[in-house]
Amino acid sequence: MKFSFITLFPDLISSYFNESILFRAKENGLISIDFINPRDFSQDKHNKVDLPMLGGGAGMLMMPEPLISSIRSIKSEGCRVIMLSPVGKKFTQNDAIRLSSFSHLILISGRYEGIDERVIESEVDEVFSIGDFVLTGGELASLVVCDSVARNIVGVLGNSDSLSGESFEENLLEAPAFTKPDIFEEKLIISEYLKGNHSKITALKRALSLCKTKYFRPDLFIKVAKKASNYEK
Ligand code: ADE
Repeated sequence: MKFSFITLFPDLISSYFNESILFRAKENGLISIDFINPRDFSQDKHNKVDLPMLGGGAGMLMMPEPLISSIRSIKSEGCRVIMLSPVGKKFTQNDAIRLSSFSHLILISGRYEGIDERVIESEVDEVFSIGDFVLTGGELASLVVCDSVARNIVGVLGNSDSLSGESFEENLLEAPAFTKPDIFEEKLIISEYLKGNHSKITALKRALSLCKTKYFRPDLFIKVAKKASNYEK
């Protein structure tokens, strides 16, 4: 799968692919990465890419032409064009799984106060926010989306079992997990985990997962409870 990052600051992103899982995925040909800088498409003699907002408002906006030219220079048949913005819909694990079946994702990082809305109207398929907070630009958000999509591509995680029973599957958070030693700074692990009765451990993990979701994410817990009550009807 190819990931194309449209950004004014490719160096903010590139080093992420020099280590660990995504480095290996790149080396093994499972993913490829490229960068397109809208500044290279600017018609301005100083390579300017931003202008003040029309109608007033603080700050500058990325102008349409360099961005549109950047996108059109790399658009491929069947690719998906994604803009990262705090005003997008919330990015979820389901989106990460769904997008992993495309062969080419174009991820556009905004800077300044954002981009001219007409770019979104004419070129962008989906706009995502990674949370209800504002970053200095879309680069981190693009990386977040790329990382979570890439790990769902077959072969990227060494062990595909790692993808099952993850948080957000069925709207549940993962149960607490432990490794050795059994006792660490006087804290014990859940003793049932050491007894080897796998059906008991699975049932216990499910119960803990429900408790954790209810406590930390009541919004998700409501969905789980609704689904369970529909089954009972
Ligand atoms: N750009 C700035 N803030 C962002 C956010 N929360 N999500 C996606 N892109 C952004």
